[in-house]
Amino acid sequence: VTFKLGIVGCGRVVEEGHVPALLALAQQATVVALADPGAARRTAVRELLGSDEIVEHDDWRDLLASGDVDAVVIGLPHHLHVRAISDAASAGVDVICEKPLVNTLAEADAVERALAASDVRLAVMHNWAFNADQQAAIDAIAAGRIGEPFLVRNEMVWGVPYAGRDPSGDWRLHAAQAGGGIVITNAYHQAYLAELEMGSPVVRVHASFGGPEAADEVESTAVITFEHRNGGTTAIQRSWASVGGGVGVHEIHGAAGSIRFHQADPAALNRMFRGEAALPATGEQRPTVELYERARDAWAALAVPSRPWWEGMRVLYERTFEAWRRDEPAPVGIEQARRVLQIVQAIYDSARRGTSVEVAELASSGGSG
Ligand SMILES: NC(=O)c1ccc[n+]([C@@H]2O[C@H](COP(=O)([O-])OP(=O)(O)OC[C@H]3O[C@@H](n4cnc5c(N)ncnc54)[C@H](O)[C@@H]3O)[C@@H](O)[C@H]2O)c1
Repeated sequence: VTFKLGIVGCGRVVEEGHVPALLALAQQATVVALADPGAARRTAVRELLGSDEIVEHDDWRDLLASGDVDAVVIGLPHHLHVRAISDAASAGVDVICEKPLVNTLAEADAVERALAASDVRLAVMHNWAFNADQQAAIDAIAAGRIGEPFLVRNEMVWGVPYAGRDPSGDWRLHAAQAGGGIVITNAYHQAYLAELEMGSPVVRVHASFGGPEAADEVESTAVITFEHRNGGTTAIQRSWASVGGGVGVHEIHGAAGSIRFHQADPAALNRMFRGEAALPATGEQRPTVELYERARDAWAALAVPSRPWWEGMRVLYERTFEAWRRDEPAPVGIEQARRVLQIVQAIYDSARRGTSVEVAELASSGGSG
């Protein structure tokens, strides 16, 4: 079975991530329709897909009503996700949505109700968990190679907000559209990665925001700590206001060893965020992820894949299609997305109140996966 897909929102992530990932899965899925009010955006994506048979729409409701697609890929500005998902559910069309699923837990409730009422399936792009180097690290931790993890360090600072391609302006800088700044657009990913790396849920969050744009609508800079149920701590630093960029750190320390990731050069990172270049492929410069085991007393390469940054998207698409063919839920669905939103909400609450904030265990949902 080949899934017929429509893409709703033809911006930068679709162009640089979804399109190459889907072209690599041509046996499993075909893009047959696009929706975006920007004609130039549709043309750019259609040309990359290399097909003359793709139908273009200004309005996603026309795409959904056409009956041409089994599922839609949503690559819209954040505030439009909830409406597009609800419309897809009403039309009986499955959904593969970019992160964040929606901006708030209340919107997640609305999505859950729409899914339950319609029986459509949902997958969410938590792609950074599915890159080969990240997967190798998670597997090594689960196999006990570093013992019980107690500290995750995840630091990345650079000089400019991610430059999107929306012709109507930069929605990322407006709280009502983006739902926040660097936390919801970027640190979102570190929330699910931290729980996977620690092998333990986050129970308490502390965060403070700052930076030269702190007086503007959305936060540019965030320092975040997570306490995990196993007693471990995650420390996250993110800024898009550090003009020169900084040393990147991504390490997991356990009782019997450590794991570290090689980080992209800060100048290359700045070019990527400005939209001038792609990220270098992983493994291009030196081993991407390394493991230190106490017994061996030395660092050694764990896996040396040379893969583009969107490899995690390809893997997640592939596993989603496989699951759906077996009539099973996608690997990342409403529960995982709601969990990240709980943590993101706790980060914002903590920074606003200046106190630590507890993260409740995820209430088991009656909705579909
Ligand atoms: N998973 C990742 O690694 C990753 C990376 C980057 C972005 N993202 C996410 O992808 C999503 C899109 O981000 P982006 O940087 O590609 O955005 P972008 O600003 O580049 O593009 C947004 C697109 O949506 C279109 N659009 C706006 N209103 C529309 C409407 N009513 N109907 C149809 N199309 C409409 C715009 O014309 C534009 O083409 C966001 O949710 C973002 O957080 C995820």
